[in-house]
Amino acid sequence: MDLKKLFGYENKNVVITGAASGMSKSACELLLELGANVYAIDINPIALPVKKAIQADLGKQEEIERVVRELPEQIDALFLCHAIAGYKGKELQVQLVNFFGQKYMVELLLPRLVDKASVTFISSVGGMGFEQNYKTCLEVIDLKNFEEAIKWYQEHPDIIANSYVFAKQCMNSYVNSKCMSKEFIDRKIRLNAICPGYTLTGLTDDFNKSSSPTLNAKEGQEMIENMFIKGWNGYPAEPKDMGYPLVVIGSDICSYMSGQVIYIDYGLTSNWKHNGLLN
Ligand SMILES: NC(=O)c1ccc[n+]([C@@H]2O[C@H](COP(=O)([O-])OP(=O)(O)OC[C@H]3O[C@@H](n4cnc5c(N)ncnc54)[C@H](O)[C@@H]3O)[C@@H](O)[C@H]2O)c1
Repeated sequence: MDLKKLFGYENKNVVITGAASGMSKSACELLLELGANVYAIDINPIALPVKKAIQADLGKQEEIERVVRELPEQIDALFLCHAIAGYKGKELQVQLVNFFGQKYMVELLLPRLVDKASVTFISSVGGMGFEQNYKTCLEVIDLKNFEEAIKWYQEHPDIIANSYVFAKQCMNSYVNSKCMSKEFIDRKIRLNAICPGYTLTGLTDDFNKSSSPTLNAKEGQEMIENMFIKGWNGYPAEPKDMGYPLVVIGSDICSYMSGQVIYIDYGLTSNWKHNGLLN
C-alpha cells in the first residue's frame, strides 16, 4: 500500500497556522514528508522548508486579509493551530487570536476550499463543557467581523474573564454547529477539532505563569501537573503526540469524519466524567 496516497496530501495545497513551534511545527514536518505543498503562517519566523512561509499577527483583521491574499486559489486542507495563553488583562486579545480571528480566516477562505476539503482546529481540553455555554458561544459565532466581535466582547467582560476556556468553547461549538451548515455540507467540507491535554511546547512557560495568581511559573507548573498528570501517574505529551493525529484527521484517511471534537489526553477527561467531575 502506498502510504502517501492513503493520506492524500501529495501535491495538495495545505495551509497551516502556528507552524513556527510546538504541535503545528510537528504537523508541518509530517505534511512535508507526505508531499504536501505547505503554506505556513506564524507571528514568528518559520524555519521549515515549506512552499511559502508568511509572518503575520492572526489576531488582527487586516493581517488576516493580507495573509489570505498571499494564499493559493485552491486549498485542500486548512489547519488552525495558533493560540496564546490566557493572561489576565489580555482577555480581548485571547478571544481574537484564539477564536474569532480563526473563524474569520476560515470563512474568508471558504470560497477557495475545494470540495471535500478539510478544516481542522487545535482546541483544548480547556474547551470541555462547551455544551453548557453553547447558546452564548453561538452568539459569538454569528458575529460577522472584528468590529462586531470587539463590541460583543467588550459588552461581556464576565464571560471573557475565563479567556482561554471561553475561546476554546467557542471553537468546539463552531465545529459542532457548522459541520452541517449549508456552506460546509453542500460541498462536503469536513470540520473537526482536536483537544490536546498537557503537552510540552512553546506555550508551556506561558501556561505555567498565567495559571499562577502571582505569575510564578513553578507554582503554575505544580498546579497544572496536579490537575493533568498526578491523578493518573502520567506524563506530559510531546508536540508530535498532537501534531501527527491532527494530520491524520485532516487527511483522506478520515474522509467520513466531520463535526468531531476529539480529546487527545490519554483518557483524562473520560476519567473525570467517570468520577462525576464533569457533566
Ligand atoms: N501545550 C499544551 O499543553 C496545549 C494543551 C491544549 C491545547 N493547546 C493548543 O495547542 C495549539 C498549539 O500550541 P502549542 O502548545 O503547540 O504552542 P506553541 O507556542 O509551541 O505554538 C503556538 C504557535 O502559535 C503562534 N502564534 C501565537 N500567536 C499568534 C498570532 N497572533 N498570530 C500568528 N501566530 C501566532 C506562536 O508563535 C507559536 O508558533 C494551541 O491552539 C494551543 O491552545 C496546547
